[in-house]
Amino acid sequence: MGATGLASAMSYRYDVEGVHDIDVYLEHDGYEGLRVALEMEPSAIIDTVKEAGLRGRGGAGFPTGMKWSFVAQDTGKPIYIVCNADEGEPGTFKDRPLMEEDPHQLVEGMIVGGLALNSVQGYIYLRGEFRHAGRRMAAAVRQAYERGYLGADVMGSGRRFDLTLHRGAGAYICGEETALLDSLEGKRGQPRLRPPFPAAKGLYSCPTTVNNVESIAAVPFILRHGVDWWRQWGTEKSPGPKLMCISGEVKNPGNYEVALGTTVDEMVEIAGGMLDEREFKFYCPGGSSTPILPASAGSVPYTFEDIMEAGSLLGTGALMIYSDRTSVVSTVRRFTEFYEHESCGKCTPCREGGYWLSQILRRIETGNGRMDDLDLLQDVCDNIFGRSFCALGDGMTSPIVSSLEHFRDEYVEHIKQGRSPFGVEPRRDWKVTEFTHGGGYEPVPPATPTAPVDVPVAGQA
Ligand SMILES: Cc1cc2nc3c(=O)[nH]c(=O)nc-3n(C[C@H](O)[C@H](O)[C@H](O)COP(=O)(O)O)c2cc1C
Ligand code: SF4
Repeated sequence: MGATGLASAMSYRYDVEGVHDIDVYLEHDGYEGLRVALEMEPSAIIDTVKEAGLRGRGGAGFPTGMKWSFVAQDTGKPIYIVCNADEGEPGTFKDRPLMEEDPHQLVEGMIVGGLALNSVQGYIYLRGEFRHAGRRMAAAVRQAYERGYLGADVMGSGRRFDLTLHRGAGAYICGEETALLDSLEGKRGQPRLRPPFPAAKGLYSCPTTVNNVESIAAVPFILRHGVDWWRQWGTEKSPGPKLMCISGEVKNPGNYEVALGTTVDEMVEIAGGMLDEREFKFYCPGGSSTPILPASAGSVPYTFEDIMEAGSLLGTGALMIYSDRTSVVSTVRRFTEFYEHESCGKCTPCREGGYWLSQILRRIETGNGRMDDLDLLQDVCDNIFGRSFCALGDGMTSPIVSSLEHFRDEYVEHIKQGRSPFGVEPRRDWKVTEFTHGGGYEPVPPATPTAPVDVPVAGQA
């Protein structure tokens, strides 16, 4: 086990004044990883990334080196490297700061990735709303062309690499890698059937890799400083530092670089401890599509394997912390409304199921809930999970199923009291619907609260 706690590796330049400018970047080790890469065979670059044990930072944690080795080299078609800079998962805010503070880090990573894959064209698919990051990235790409790091003769090596910045229109589904590729091709962003996987048939039906910003930006550091340097942090299966997004009810929410293997409780302390000295109640380990865990699982080391053993996923590194004054039901209802809204509509379980899950959760929260709604929630989730076309459907069910597992009492209390025991006022503009016997559904007004606001419930201090 390597060092734990705060790390200063990929973010060490964030505090350097003006490092988004290429001259300042060059004064701070800039393009040194690329210099090393240019001396290496493509397969050696991939082997080094494999030895470092770098796992994808975009959500699934797939080993980056292995992913690169799957990209078909013998098709005679161009090979593309695509950077997923869509960063849409609620709670996630690590890629945008990286691109705003240190954009050349990503440009350098893209060129190194291009060398490793024998690709001469890369794309950065950037969320359209990220205006400032977009300006910074566009300026960095321009400067890299002007200084000969991009273009026909990368650093005088005779090797070519071109990089295009593409701004998306801001749909969560366009972060899913195959929907992203459709969007990049100018189509409506919806997931593709797999196989074929992008490594065989991706952008314009050519071999393609899609990687997260943080995964790509890590590679020049690994080449520049070596595998042992990278492995000084983390564990055997989850080595390296991680850019963390710590949010919610902590005193100092924000972006922290932390060694993998640091426990969740330690990260709460790193972020200043619980806000207003409240009691830590539950957390979302890696974005709102990862199963929530109770605070009793706070001693779990933050690694891919340990979080999975605890029943959740590391996801994007978006650690959301909640206290005893927060309603699990309200939190899960808000997440579910997001997924309902962002469902692309391609497959029935997610498109229809998302709507009904939101309806049932609103019904419970507004005091119209019934005890059999809990089984109904579980049943709808069971019909979405594993039956949807892409992982958005599965992710939609995670907070619901996990909250029913860990905080069922709180749902029961909402239903029994006919109101939110946390004093959450039902929104009068909600249209809560119910099936009618003749088919169809009709709106039901929110119920009038029947119990005083200060009735304690399980899990509440
Ligand atoms: C609905 C959905 C949204 C996603 N959004 C993102 C995203 O914004 N950024 C990202 O890097 N990966 C996102 N992913 C994961 C990508 O599909 C893909 O696994 C990832 O970009 C691979 O990069 P990595 O191997 O470096 O982790 C999303 C997946 C799904 C199902
Ligand atoms: S699971 Fe949802 S987002 Fe994914 S294809 Fe189906 S409808 Fe679209």
